[in-house]
Amino acid sequence: MENATSTDVPPKRAPRKGERLEVEIDSLAFGGRGVARADGLVVFVAGGLPGDRVLAEVTKGKKRFAEARTVELLRAGADRLPDRCVHGGEPCPGAPWQGLAYERQLAEKQAQVEDSLRRIGGLDGFEMEPIVPAVEEWRYRNKLEYSFGAGAAGTADEGVALGFHARGRWDLIVDVDDCKLASEPGNAARNGVREWARLEDVGAYDARARRGTLRNLVVREGRRTGQIQTRLVTTAARLPRPPVDLHTTIEGDSGGTDGPTGALGEERLHEELCGLKFEMSHGAFFQTNTEMAERLYGVATEFAGLSGRERVFDLFCGIGTIGLTMARSAGEVWGLEIVPEAIADAERNARRNKVENAKFLAANARTGMRPLLEQAGKPDVVVVDPPRAGLSQKIVRRLIECEAQRIVYVSCNPTTLAPNAKQLEEAGYRLRRVRPVDMFPQTPHIECVALLEKVGASAPEESAA
Ligand SMILES: C[S@@+](CC[C@H](N)C(=O)[O-])C[C@H]1O[C@@H](n2cnc3c(N)ncnc32)[C@H](O)[C@@H]1O
Repeated sequence: MENATSTDVPPKRAPRKGERLEVEIDSLAFGGRGVARADGLVVFVAGGLPGDRVLAEVTKGKKRFAEARTVELLRAGADRLPDRCVHGGEPCPGAPWQGLAYERQLAEKQAQVEDSLRRIGGLDGFEMEPIVPAVEEWRYRNKLEYSFGAGAAGTADEGVALGFHARGRWDLIVDVDDCKLASEPGNAARNGVREWARLEDVGAYDARARRGTLRNLVVREGRRTGQIQTRLVTTAARLPRPPVDLHTTIEGDSGGTDGPTGALGEERLHEELCGLKFEMSHGAFFQTNTEMAERLYGVATEFAGLSGRERVFDLFCGIGTIGLTMARSAGEVWGLEIVPEAIADAERNARRNKVENAKFLAANARTGMRPLLEQAGKPDVVVVDPPRAGLSQKIVRRLIECEAQRIVYVSCNPTTLAPNAKQLEEAGYRLRRVRPVDMFPQTPHIECVALLEKVGASAPEESAA
């Protein structure tokens, strides 16, 4: 293999970027990369699973560890399953754990949540509940984003390719025909757009030459409504008419700030969740696994221990899904979210479902919590569902000022949940229950729900009295 260092001789120094190493993967690190050792140095290898022997290229060399990516799988580990989602001969970048048996994926996630809380947070004494497995291990995503590119010269993809970036290549797109994380209608929608681009001879945008038109395609699906929405991101608003059966919004471009310039289809996506009807704008967050969002909210509602009278704050509320789900068993709900379109959606969703005990405010949690507290009064329960970075220390301080009896923390990153939970424990809360929910099979992404209770707080049944 060109550029490969002698594979049997381990390096005597920290490897440099671009060097190639032959290594055996021992275990999985947080974030999903394989862990290997080369000459006493830990190497985190993307694309490597336990038992694999791989040829890996170093992407970052540090004194005490290195990061690398798999260039070639030399010998698959004994437990490795054959890849099921493959594009252009390469494993799907959206399914890096597809070689791991599903039971093993669940066990890894369960262990990583517990480990983060114990080791990073120094937390103890909580009940670690078993992970809720996914309803669908494949074809569960309701949203996928694809890139347009020129495709590889001399192949069927030459001209317009529409799919994912080839491994380690920002400039080469591999066509996707059937992504096993997307539904069949979602795949058909993407393929229809590619066919249209080829037929109408609309080219992909070439960043180097600063020429061409098509950049990205987002396909969203209402799993319960059957609605498919495709959003095209382009450098020009004038395009041949897209296939009529696709809802297409075309964006102009100047760094993506122009916003929609032509809405040829339905602007909002419709979905049903927990017995309620939701609408969402394309700029608003929505959980990418509809089925599992229901399970996640079920766990959050159980942890909230509502009796019908509580005042609930739903912080980082998006289009209001958690708050509106809980409103049925609470006294009142107050949602807070930074994206104004999402708040407009939440208000529309409340009206649509005739929920009259929920109010929503567009604000940054950092600055908006004190005014919310002043307006609404102290909550009994606060639900937080922040992005991966978790809560800043200041937001945790604002949360403590709420003096809620229970905090339900929905987390997509246990390594940021851990220090937040620690800070809350130092302020008089106790971490009681933690339950992971597998929202993202075939990937290392972890979601979990944690319940923190104020020490000395009355039990849920008593709080209603
Ligand atoms: C993980 S999503 C959760 C949304 C919602 N709870 C759901 O289940 O669909 C996090 C949300 O926090 C919002 N957000 C991010 N930073 C924020 C901030 N500083 N203050 C308020 N909301 C914020 C995002 O716009 C996003 O809607």
